[in-house]
Amino acid sequence: MTENQNPPRYTGDIAEQHLDPAREYTVENQEIVFSAEQHAVWADLFAGIHQPYLLEHICQEYLNGLTRLGLDPQHIPTVAHLNERIQPRTGWRIERTAVRYTLADDWYDKFGQRIFLITDYLRTRDQMEFTPEPDMFHDIFGHLPYLTMDFYAHIEDKFAPAYHKATQAEKEVIKRLAWYSTEFGLVMENNRLKVFGAGIISGRSELANTIMEFYRLGRDNVLDYSGHVFAQLQEHFLAHKEQVEHIISGINQVHQQGQMSSQEQGWNVVRGLYEELGIPREGYLGGEVILAPFDVEVIAQIPKTVYAFNPMFFVCESFEGMDALLDSYLKPIALRNS
Ligand SMILES: [Fe+2]
Repeated sequence: MTENQNPPRYTGDIAEQHLDPAREYTVENQEIVFSAEQHAVWADLFAGIHQPYLLEHICQEYLNGLTRLGLDPQHIPTVAHLNERIQPRTGWRIERTAVRYTLADDWYDKFGQRIFLITDYLRTRDQMEFTPEPDMFHDIFGHLPYLTMDFYAHIEDKFAPAYHKATQAEKEVIKRLAWYSTEFGLVMENNRLKVFGAGIISGRSELANTIMEFYRLGRDNVLDYSGHVFAQLQEHFLAHKEQVEHIISGINQVHQQGQMSSQEQGWNVVRGLYEELGIPREGYLGGEVILAPFDVEVIAQIPKTVYAFNPMFFVCESFEGMDALLDSYLKPIALRNS
């Protein structure tokens, strides 16, 4: 049976890729000569997101990091440039890999050595708005501005020591915590909701969707932006907890049935779920994505939504708050005697 006749069942991770080790990059040989078209794709992706009306909704730490990283809007950077900007500041190092989606065990082995892998794959023109696979635009534009900042290096430093001592079930939770923080997290800044996660920043449609939800929550009088926004979000979440729990168990069913395996299907399935559960699409639950306070127990229940837009995003009150919440789960595991 070939792979095409029997596509891999959706498990929340992208299928394992078998790579000829001879094709992998060596420490001495990290650079690639990109074609004019690849640079043009990079330039269009960069310009598509580097817009004032989008950037104003991304947290200030990202924007500061972007300046520090000194990316050329027109050209894909070299690994040497990235390391020049990152290594002296935080001690993290960038390495190129030919693997398009590194599996968590290998990923956290590198993390333990403060190495952040970037893929050599760049999305194609039909994926400018959304790509399920983390390509080099995601890795570089989404994550690396942050790796020039101590607070982010500090957050990333937490994952590997816990992952290496975790049980299989705990590893799954750790992957979800990383997913809903560094990949798809939101953070409060000056009483405003801001995008933090690299997965949102590097994907124009999910970024636009998220920003539209910020506006919708105000327009539909769910959030009064002149009041304390995070406290209101907590109140709404608590008031709708039962419905949210139904939605989460529905997402798990849909996920286990392998029905979230494409962008279109993924969203249709989640939309259908609200109807099936008899949950009216209004007020707090009236948008395309539910915004909830960052909560380890809730996050532990939600699968990663690789091939579709995420049905929920989690908001931290501050980066200190994110730090403390991640520590509450990761530290006891990291300190365990193995
Ligand atoms: Fe990522």
